[in-house]
Amino acid sequence: MKSKYILKKYHIFLYMLFLLFQIGCDGKATEQQKIDTVVSEIKIGLTVYRRDDTFIAMIVSDMEEAVKEAEQKNNIKIVMNTMDAKGSQIVQNDHIDKLIEQGCDVLCVNLVDRTVAATVIDKAKAADIPVVFFNREPVKEDLERWNKVYYVGADASESGKLEGQIVVEQYNKNNNIDKNRDGKLQYVVLEGEQGHQDALLRTEYAVKTITEAGIQMDKLAGDTANWLRSQAETKMNQWLQIYDDEIELVLCNNDDMALGAIDAYENIDKTLPAIVGIDGIAPAIEAMQQGKLLGTVKNDAEMQSELIFELSYRLAMKEDISKSMNLVRGKYIFTRYTILKPNNDILNEQ
Ligand code: BGC
Ligand code: CA
Repeated sequence: MKSKYILKKYHIFLYMLFLLFQIGCDGKATEQQKIDTVVSEIKIGLTVYRRDDTFIAMIVSDMEEAVKEAEQKNNIKIVMNTMDAKGSQIVQNDHIDKLIEQGCDVLCVNLVDRTVAATVIDKAKAADIPVVFFNREPVKEDLERWNKVYYVGADASESGKLEGQIVVEQYNKNNNIDKNRDGKLQYVVLEGEQGHQDALLRTEYAVKTITEAGIQMDKLAGDTANWLRSQAETKMNQWLQIYDDEIELVLCNNDDMALGAIDAYENIDKTLPAIVGIDGIAPAIEAMQQGKLLGTVKNDAEMQSELIFELSYRLAMKEDISKSMNLVRGKYIFTRYTILKPNNDILNEQ
């Protein structure tokens, strides 16, 4: 009886020893696992509609800077593969396939054609790679196709309103814009690419803001110059031949086109009318300080690229971004626009 009791005790002792050993091993295994899962390299796939677009070129170089900084700060290797679709959606789709094949952890996409986001989203979803769209906003229905799809940009209507405000303020301060004194502003519009949210909404809200302030508008002409300085110059040359001194205001969907309009006037030594732009790029600020450009609206490329990078980095690290990033409706991040006027005054800084 007694020996049976001792034997049982002995078994319990052995079992406890076994358990202790197990706990020890489990503890070690967890540590080992942790070491194994520390990420030492991430891959970001970046594709842009055109790398020679002034604003997009700023975003790309700011992102390259952000990559370098994060590599140093977090002691990690970040490979960013940047691809230029040169204005072709077919080429961009091909680039997306390549970036997926290369095993990118996240895709940053500046669509050529913002209406075909679904194709890109479906490819990424099949490979389970999150997508951060930027600058060219896909429609809501497309963004809702998958929960790992995001958009970083700015509210296009806001930039239109602020551009309109620049004109209103100048008109009210010193009505030298209405050159023929007929109580109306004869204007032309240099539009961005057709179908781009920033082209449609900037024009609409700039005109709305001016008319709602009680200023009558008289549209002489409007056409797309595809965001480009050279095309804007050509368009402006044509309009100058038709309307000449009648033009009192040139509304431009971006600064590059405003600079193109200035080129056209300067080529024939003509006095400049009121010209307004959007973006706040360095040559536009210079033109403003020289009194050639009435004003512009800063489209914060630096902040946008910082946010695109931060979001992409966290996604690549498989973080729960719903906690770490401030997302609107779980998907969007918007930066603010600010008015820039001569002397670099930021009028509506929050
Ligand atoms: C910028 C333009 C740029 C375009 C490209 C706009 O938000 O204001 O300058 O050409 O994006 O998509
Ligand atoms: Ca007039």
